Amino acid sequence: MKASELRQKFLEFFKQKGHAEISGKSLIPENDPTVLFNTAGMQPLVPYLLGEKHPLGTRLADVQKCVRTGDIDSVGDHSHLTFFEMLGNWSLGDYFKEEAITWSYEFLTSPEWLGIPREKLWVTVFAGEEGIPRDEESAAIWKRLGIPDNRISYLDREHNWWGPAGSTGPCGPDTEMFYDTGRPCPRGDDCEGPTCKCGRWLEIWNDVFMQYNKQADGSYVPLAKKNVDTGMGVERTITVLQGKDSVYDTELFQPILKTLSDLVGVPYGQDPARDSSMRIIADHVKTACFIIGDDLGVSPSNVGQGYVLRRLIRRAVRHGRKLGLHGPFLKIPAAAVLEIYTDVYPEVVQRRQKIQEELTHEEERFLKTLEHGEKEFEKMLPGLLKNPRKELSGRLAFKLYDTYGFPIEITEELAMEHGMTVDRAGFDEAFAKHQEVSKAGADKTFKGGLADHSEMTTRLHTATHLLHKALQIVLGEHARQRGSNITPERLRFDFSHPQKMSDDEIQRVEDIVNEQIRRGLEVSQSVLPLEEAKKLGAMALFGDKYEDVVKVYRIGDFSLEVCGGPHVNNTRELGKFKIQKEEASSAGVRRIRAVLLDENQG
Ligand code: SER
Repeated sequence: MKASELRQKFLEFFKQKGHAEISGKSLIPENDPTVLFNTAGMQPLVPYLLGEKHPLGTRLADVQKCVRTGDIDSVGDHSHLTFFEMLGNWSLGDYFKEEAITWSYEFLTSPEWLGIPREKLWVTVFAGEEGIPRDEESAAIWKRLGIPDNRISYLDREHNWWGPAGSTGPCGPDTEMFYDTGRPCPRGDDCEGPTCKCGRWLEIWNDVFMQYNKQADGSYVPLAKKNVDTGMGVERTITVLQGKDSVYDTELFQPILKTLSDLVGVPYGQDPARDSSMRIIADHVKTACFIIGDDLGVSPSNVGQGYVLRRLIRRAVRHGRKLGLHGPFLKIPAAAVLEIYTDVYPEVVQRRQKIQEELTHEEERFLKTLEHGEKEFEKMLPGLLKNPRKELSGRLAFKLYDTYGFPIEITEELAMEHGMTVDRAGFDEAFAKHQEVSKAGADKTFKGGLADHSEMTTRLHTATHLLHKALQIVLGEHARQRGSNITPERLRFDFSHPQKMSDDEIQRVEDIVNEQIRRGLEVSQSVLPLEEAKKLGAMALFGDKYEDVVKVYRIGDFSLEVCGGPHVNNTRELGKFKIQKEEASSAGVRRIRAVLLDENQG
């Protein structure tokens, strides 16, 4: 049975059971800030699951496109995908467990429908916890239908609870249906059943009994009406029905893989590592096509959906390189993707040109990044090769990542080509630290508290002026500002200076700044013609363009700088200045990170 027939049969079956067919929605949720993509069929239906009346009644069925990236590391195995289609039947306060389970079973096993042998089916039900009872009701229904005790597992919330999709919303216990592929488990008779990751068990359908609404405070409030949300995976179910080994062996992937094996010049199915890369590319390029080609389509970027898209494309490019594909190539498998879905998602297919352009553009951008990073790597190489341990430090690997966007895998590849290894643990550590910092930064953005926020950044801004002047006093006039970045946590200041600052120099700079803070200098501003400001010796950014008339900030008798502000009124407001780090930023440019502490801290 092909995917097209499965979609059709599913809708037909549920129409016979009184369901109205509704159309699948865009991949990108509207008015739902809790998720980036529809990760399940229930998402576009959330308002109805929460009690809103649906114009087509209380029994609905549909096919919904979904994107899930949570399992991205499993993509390439037998069954995990980042894009998939979900078949769903819905009860909005209408039927509940009895009908939902009975119909699932009938559709799966009846020879008139899918005809899956009943002895191949295993099910799981919710074991119960914290005031939510063990789901004996579902188990009893399964038993009555003919599933023996030993093929029913009672599992905890981690396995048998669904939702909410984001942080809040409808959710509840579920019962899941697994197909026994018969693939041997390495643990033999000790295989733990459907939860075992051995690859023997394929989850094909999930009936969720949505009876709670999770609140922002973490509590579960019972819904006024109980709903059913079911999700059957199209790709997995046809894999079972076609007796195939993996989702990649079906018509929803074979043509894509064919373009890849043609490009590489090696058949698919000969080498596990190569096959895995081809599968990953096939999956990611498909997902990218659907994200770009969506009605609310997005382009690669560094935020939100655009960032997910960027990661998918770049990961595909990386696997392409492993296969020897070094130039842009994704539009070729993309054409195969669109071909597969011509009749199913014409709205996506009609955006062919945009999809191909975006893919190629992003590939080119990434290839440039790689080229640039490779050059930097070549520059480091002579030094690296002197290292007797033949190991590239985690710090350097992180620098390549942070400064040039160079993925760690590529650094490892390059290192390997020169007979070296990379301190991966060191990189992971630097990376984790960086994540923490950006997470702390992101938390701040969402916390609001803008008043507080801007007060701290204002103080750090004034401290930056003091730092700039102090650096010129200690290091010389060449120590000029090359960049400044302020967050509520710290200031970061880049300046020209050819070598690392000594501990003594750092200490002197810190002391000078703290001295000016203690002096309680008034901060004042005035507007002057640029020439006059320069005559007065105001510091201005080298290479920056200014208007003829500029604003200057004066900090007592200590500093005069062309600047837009804002600043504090008196340096006494700053607290204690502390340099946390001095490091190289780029050739001839140093970088200082510093903070302001309350007087009584440190
Ligand atoms: N929401 C459930 C799932 O995604 C059933 O549709 O598995």
